[in-house]
Amino acid sequence: MVSMSNSQVPAAPNTRALTQDELKTLVAQAALEYVVRGQWVGVGTGSTVNKFIEALGSIRHEIPGAVSSSVASTQRLRALGIDVRDANEVERLAVYIDGADEIDGKGYMVKGGGAALTREKIVAAQSDRFVCIADASKRVPVLGTFPLPVEVIPMAGARIIRQFAAMGGRATIRMAGDKPLVTDNGQRLIDVFGLSITDPLAFEAEVSQWPGVVTVGVFAFQRANICLLGTDTGVQTLCFD
Ligand code: 5RP
Repeated sequence: MVSMSNSQVPAAPNTRALTQDELKTLVAQAALEYVVRGQWVGVGTGSTVNKFIEALGSIRHEIPGAVSSSVASTQRLRALGIDVRDANEVERLAVYIDGADEIDGKGYMVKGGGAALTREKIVAAQSDRFVCIADASKRVPVLGTFPLPVEVIPMAGARIIRQFAAMGGRATIRMAGDKPLVTDNGQRLIDVFGLSITDPLAFEAEVSQWPGVVTVGVFAFQRANICLLGTDTGVQTLCFD
């Protein structure tokens, strides 16, 4: 069930619509309230999370440090003097803060636009609560408009692309310039277009079993518990518990 409450961080009175960048700043600031002081925090990846990391710098003395979901986030955290530990060194995280490419009415998400989906799912899995921070453009009725990222073992790529084609999806290998993108885990990414994911739990369960799939970018088992959604009227809080 979704419950909604008004923002505790209202947007400043404005005569113009806030830009996507300003909305990201708004939700990043609001997320600080969910960081449990004295405890390690899980940190995601992406442009919204980059703003959260900046905000986290202001309370760095109130937390022992962070577990990060990517090399890029780790570098940003350490540049601010925040201790970053390997996921194996911290048993449980009270909260994981991350963005999303899409989020539906049950807190199910598509993630991986920033290629960090595997580590994001790992850190989310060891966190008590997933707080998603996103601008309102990410809220969708059904997952699938954003191309679905899937991290794959390179030798399985062509077969997995054919398996998605049999489902009605068109998959392509994500490139970095003229070469296939290599993830932080040394693997490849494919992006699948044209899927409508009406049952995210079943979809994630099925695709995760395909040989060679490292991680599918549907986050249904590791769904958001809360979403802080940036809107023109302020931060809308969606609770999915
Ligand atoms: C990275 C992700 C990001 O959370 C997602 O792509 C959203 O990014 P942004 O905040 O830049 O819109 O899943 O792998």
